[in-house]
Amino acid sequence: MTRHAIIGCGRVAANHVDGFGRVDGWQVTTACDRTDDVHAFARAHGIPRATQDVGEVLADAAVTSVSVAVDHATHATIVEAALGAGKHVLVEKPFGLDPARARQLAGLAAAQGLTLSVVSQHRYDPVVLAVRDWLARGLLGEVVCVTASLQAHREPEYYTGSYWRGTLRGEGGSALVNQGYHCLDTVRWLVGDLTVRSASWRTVALGDVIETEDTISALLATTGGAPVTLSVTVASPTQWCTRIEVVGTAGSVAFDIDHPGRLLRWEGPPALDAEATAESRRSLDADPPGPAYYGVSHRRQIADFCDAVATGRSMLFTPTESLGTLETITALYAHAGGAR
Ligand SMILES: NC(=O)c1ccc[n+]([C@@H]2O[C@H](COP(=O)([O-])OP(=O)(O)OC[C@H]3O[C@@H](n4cnc5c(N)ncnc54)[C@H](O)[C@@H]3O)[C@@H](O)[C@H]2O)c1
Repeated sequence: MTRHAIIGCGRVAANHVDGFGRVDGWQVTTACDRTDDVHAFARAHGIPRATQDVGEVLADAAVTSVSVAVDHATHATIVEAALGAGKHVLVEKPFGLDPARARQLAGLAAAQGLTLSVVSQHRYDPVVLAVRDWLARGLLGEVVCVTASLQAHREPEYYTGSYWRGTLRGEGGSALVNQGYHCLDTVRWLVGDLTVRSASWRTVALGDVIETEDTISALLATTGGAPVTLSVTVASPTQWCTRIEVVGTAGSVAFDIDHPGRLLRWEGPPALDAEATAESRRSLDADPPGPAYYGVSHRRQIADFCDAVATGRSMLFTPTESLGTLETITALYAHAGGAR
């Protein structure tokens, strides 16, 4: 039995319990949170041990790996300590708040032969993998342009009830680094590195409760020069709606990374048409444990993580690719004008 611990038992932690609970030979044996809510969390999820002390978890030689699901500002400190203690690490997005520190952590994991992975569950969504495959095989031709957007709704209580959300220090931004992360990360996964051309942010609806942006729009470019437009807001009345559209010289596709992720439209050569028709008829995933828009692909990334730990192989994507997303986010905030 391989023993896993979850550090940070808030909103997303149930998705980690669910994912590790589905992998043969693995068990979540320890829940850790600095608050005493950890005891109720462990009881609710049938986790044998609960502790408020990260040091205790990391000193436990029986624990092979840890999930780090705490506020953004604390990611790097706990990841570093966990790697230092010889644990394999699955850390929630983003890869900390400082690209230089994230680069060091990626180097530390590699030097120690430990698996380190930053959660990007939507990179595993079937619709995303299908579009990535079509791009790699040239079914869309050369990328002409990409548009990506998220409109979401956040009540003030989402921020006022949290010790870190909406604060520059704890979250490092807001709409982009938190909710918009997956849209940007998915686009990078499909078309590669991005350069920021311009960005603009504002705080329309939540200025009384957040220090950061509730809305940001930007123009970026792929290394091949294709323009990419990105718009993210948490000030919409719509609860959650993503759209990503890739236009190529031979074909175009539009899809979402909501739950369940869907191919929305396509146009292109017969080979694309045949595969897109099949993809659009794929049976859709069952319900996830957390909020629906988290999707179910934590399960897929966790299965990949466990297999990588067991076999020593690489995962679908490397920490360096997650670092790339953090670098793009950092550049977007710099272009948008630093702190609001
Ligand atoms: N991949 C996704 O779709 C997804 C969804 C939600 C959240 N997240 C990410 O997960 C992370 C956590 O988000 P959340 O919404 O669960 O936050 P949360 O505030 O609900 O939970 C964070 C928990 O970490 C605990 N914590 C903080 N410092 C700690 C420490 N030193 N030791 C032990 N526990 C500590 C807090 O007490 C809190 O219970 C964030 O990085 C967030 O961006 C990802």
